[in-house]
Amino acid sequence: MSDTKGHALALRGLSKRYGDFVAVNDVSLEVGKGEFLTLLGPSGSGKTTILMAIAGFVAPSDGAILLDGRDITPLPPEKRDFGMVFQGYALFPHMTVAENVAFPLRVRGMSKADRDAKVRGALDLVQLAAFADRLPKQLSGGQQQRVALARALVFDPALLLLDEPLSALDKKLRAELQEELKALHQRVGRTFVNVTHDQEEALSLSDRIAILNHGRLVQAGAPGELYERPRTRFVADFLGKSNFLEGTVRGAAPGGFALEAGAARLAVRLPDGAAPLAEGSRSLLSLRPEKIALLAEGDAAENVAEGRILAFAYLGAGFSLRVATEHLGEIRATLPAWKSPIAPTEGLPVRLGWSADAAAPVEEDAA
Ligand SMILES: Nc1ncnc2c1ncn2[C@@H]1O[C@H](COP(=O)(O)OP(=O)(O)O)[C@@H](O)[C@H]1O
Ligand SMILES: [Mg+2]
Repeated sequence: MSDTKGHALALRGLSKRYGDFVAVNDVSLEVGKGEFLTLLGPSGSGKTTILMAIAGFVAPSDGAILLDGRDITPLPPEKRDFGMVFQGYALFPHMTVAENVAFPLRVRGMSKADRDAKVRGALDLVQLAAFADRLPKQLSGGQQQRVALARALVFDPALLLLDEPLSALDKKLRAELQEELKALHQRVGRTFVNVTHDQEEALSLSDRIAILNHGRLVQAGAPGELYERPRTRFVADFLGKSNFLEGTVRGAAPGGFALEAGAARLAVRLPDGAAPLAEGSRSLLSLRPEKIALLAEGDAAENVAEGRILAFAYLGAGFSLRVATEHLGEIRATLPAWKSPIAPTEGLPVRLGWSADAAAPVEEDAA
């Protein structure tokens, strides 16, 4: 029932400098009406600075911020009226849940009767109606964070900005709240801009992800698109795990090529529409550990690497293996435990196999 009351946001060449230091470097990004967009990047990559610029608390050094095509760059935060939730966002400890949620409405001068109806609606949204009269200290961390969400949504903001709202919570609670946040986004049909350094959170919550590194936007796209088609080594490495194989392009054709890496020759099939690589050029392949199989005797694969197990870890759902291969250096593979043909042991000779479309060319990141 998301009727897309959300607004469209655009960043145009946004930069923020502190003296000589460039915290945000020429970021351009479109966020569609009602979209859940996540800014994902390591600590210090400029995520909070971008969010604060959107909120109006940080003045950009360059560039513009547009809401539904209108330039809002000069507007102060209170004129933007965006909802915000931060990491470990403090509720007012002496106010009840209902009073906390009513606060933004009181500030806006809304009558008590109207306030009460809005507060009830917002608490229903986060499923905390039964807790209206409690104090924050009588709630769990997850419940407090839901109150903070209700308080950010109660005045029907044009945009909800979230800066690592779940990062203070333990793993299980975080996973629960991730699901709730996603459901909440669908219920309210607003535009959400979320910040996280947690790749799994970004993958599971977002309609689209924008990946940042050193203040630059490296790649933006739907989660599956970024995971399957990372543009650079950084994206492949940061969003999930990856092996990297380097070599020379041979037999280049529109549909694929062979990567000559020392004595090994690997078959690579390119997705439809991908630009062919230049014969004889250097290429870097990203190969996800879960796309590698452990071959049983007599099994064939388009690419095979023989080696020995250097180390392994049992992860419950599967095994993670580090294999020293004859020609390709160390390769990591993850195998579902239930269909592993062997019990891994250190030093065990193994054959790894993967299909020609398992590995994809990526670019080295600009320095
Ligand atoms: N007020 C400031 N003065 C100087 N440097 C800052 C300021 N705010 C942020 N920075 C720097 O900008 C970079 C990006 O910070 P931030 O946006 O907080 O990153 P993230 O949220 O991705 O961890 C960091 O190196 C940080 O130290
Ligand atoms: Mg931050």
